[in-house]
Amino acid sequence: MCGIVGYVGERRAAPVILDGLRRLEYRGYDSAGLAVIDQDELRLVRRVGFVAALAAAVPADLPGSTGIGHTRWATHGGVTEDNAHPHLDSTNRIAVVHNGIIENHMPLRARLQDEGVVFRSETDTEVLAHLISIFYKADSTAGPEAAVRQALELVQGTYGVAVIFLDHPGLIIAARNGSPLVVGKGNGETFLASDPHALSAHTREVVYLEDRDIVRIDASGWTISRMDGGGVSRAVEVLGEEWQDEGRGDYSHHMLKEIHEQPESLARCLRGRVVPDQGTARLGGFELSPRDIAAIRHLTVLGCGTSFHAGLVGAAAMEGLARIPASAEIASEYRYRNPVVAADDLYFAVSQSGETADTLGAVREVQVKGGRVFGVVNVVGSSIARTCGRGVYVHSGPEIAVASTKAFTSQVAAMLVAALSFARTRALGPHEGKAFGEELLSVPERVGEWLTAEPPGLMDAVELCTSGKFVFFLGRGVSHAVALEGALKLKEVAYVPCMAYPAAEMKHGPIALLDKRTPVVVVVPDDVMRDKTLSTIQEVRARGAQVIAIHTVGDDQTPKVADVCIPVPRSNPLISPLFSVLPLQLLAYRAGLALARDIDRPRNLAKSVTVE
Ligand code: F6R
Repeated sequence: MCGIVGYVGERRAAPVILDGLRRLEYRGYDSAGLAVIDQDELRLVRRVGFVAALAAAVPADLPGSTGIGHTRWATHGGVTEDNAHPHLDSTNRIAVVHNGIIENHMPLRARLQDEGVVFRSETDTEVLAHLISIFYKADSTAGPEAAVRQALELVQGTYGVAVIFLDHPGLIIAARNGSPLVVGKGNGETFLASDPHALSAHTREVVYLEDRDIVRIDASGWTISRMDGGGVSRAVEVLGEEWQDEGRGDYSHHMLKEIHEQPESLARCLRGRVVPDQGTARLGGFELSPRDIAAIRHLTVLGCGTSFHAGLVGAAAMEGLARIPASAEIASEYRYRNPVVAADDLYFAVSQSGETADTLGAVREVQVKGGRVFGVVNVVGSSIARTCGRGVYVHSGPEIAVASTKAFTSQVAAMLVAALSFARTRALGPHEGKAFGEELLSVPERVGEWLTAEPPGLMDAVELCTSGKFVFFLGRGVSHAVALEGALKLKEVAYVPCMAYPAAEMKHGPIALLDKRTPVVVVVPDDVMRDKTLSTIQEVRARGAQVIAIHTVGDDQTPKVADVCIPVPRSNPLISPLFSVLPLQLLAYRAGLALARDIDRPRNLAKSVTVE
């Protein structure tokens, strides 16, 4: 959410910053800006809209080899050029970009206004520019780092912040508290970014800042110290292959590419982890002895959005297969209800980005109370992965489209692997374990086969969903999680109003909303619940609504009662979400296209939600 890029070196900074901002655009894209030090002037360019609008406005020969840039997802203040970052102090000699939220910005703003400061934006960030300026002017011999440090001491909230000073060309001061920052080492040049994506074209050697680190960056390198004083050294890490920028290839959108990447992403997630001979699985990062696993009393899976939906499937698998009582909780709700955390319970934190503030907050709540929390994370080295310190990477590869697709299936697959491994340690026999493991291993290829042709019924479903009033999604058990995920995708990508319900719950109220113009998507695998879900379908049809059924291939009952049928491969019920979610991802994609939406950058959204 919001992207930061900084550069100091010998090259012109603006093209490097613009390139970095383009790579970070998926993190926020309502406006963008940059500031560079051009001899005796701070040159500021900001534009509402995509980074392309900024790039068009930046003079091709803009000089200056020190600069910072930002792509914004608005929190405080509307989407205007004045509210776009960087923000300057009143003397136009200091520029600041900031991710996160300054929670006490209102009293700080009021105090500054009382002292005569005139604000030029509605943002929380602008207070930082003025505070830094005041401390800098008060004692310029103390230097820029001291001024940033003093200003940040007054601030409550989260920040990833980068500051340049006209008086100090060749220097960037940056600090982190809750919003990630990474420094990249070049040859006679140094880079800064909120996300390694922005750096991967220039360097693979990076240092991740920790919370309450402050860093002085110049062309020759960096010096990190702690906000409360004292130097600190952080290890240089080498970015892995996953940060390579692969582009969209022949696909029209990242979302479509990522949907079609699922055979490979699932294979990467499962590879080397399922051990079919022994009917079990191994997850390196878990480090739990059989005795530990036997003693687990409850598993809570924490996540937001799509990751929460994956968590629902993970919890169901853990309970169904491993016989460990389990539930999934929305991470943003969890931490604020003073949850009871027990030492013999286990927690999973599920996150694609590994930076979601709500999930990170929940992880910290569990840890403060002495609980054991394992990450189920995609982005290597991300804050949640590092804070958990143990867990499993889902290896779905970079997900650029804002709507999550391949991360969902990899998260589910990783938790199915965990469930299998725990199950074998507890109650599951070798034959059942072998059958489950072998079936899991067959999923990537079967997903690939299913994706080779657009499924029958898809465009009819698109027509119904884009022409109705709103869309209902129904399912039971793990298929309810899939229904939630399908509805979320359709909202995000096509802006179609929709809601998901456990199928049997519909008759307890929402059925009042049904009529001819409310298509109902029902996820109805051929499992023990199928006949009950078919009864729900009959109730839906009796109200005049049309039914789109995602059903198991070969099921001859569901097609008799559905208006549109999309068959998916037969599977173990716990594995079925890996198949039944596929048509719903494509439905959202095709509906978004039909309604001419910006598929990869839906309005109001951003990838990686780093504010609470
Ligand atoms: C939906 C989507 C969001 C994320 C949610 C959590 O397509 O992408 O709902 O799933 O913001 O993000 P992560 O998984 O990065 O923690």
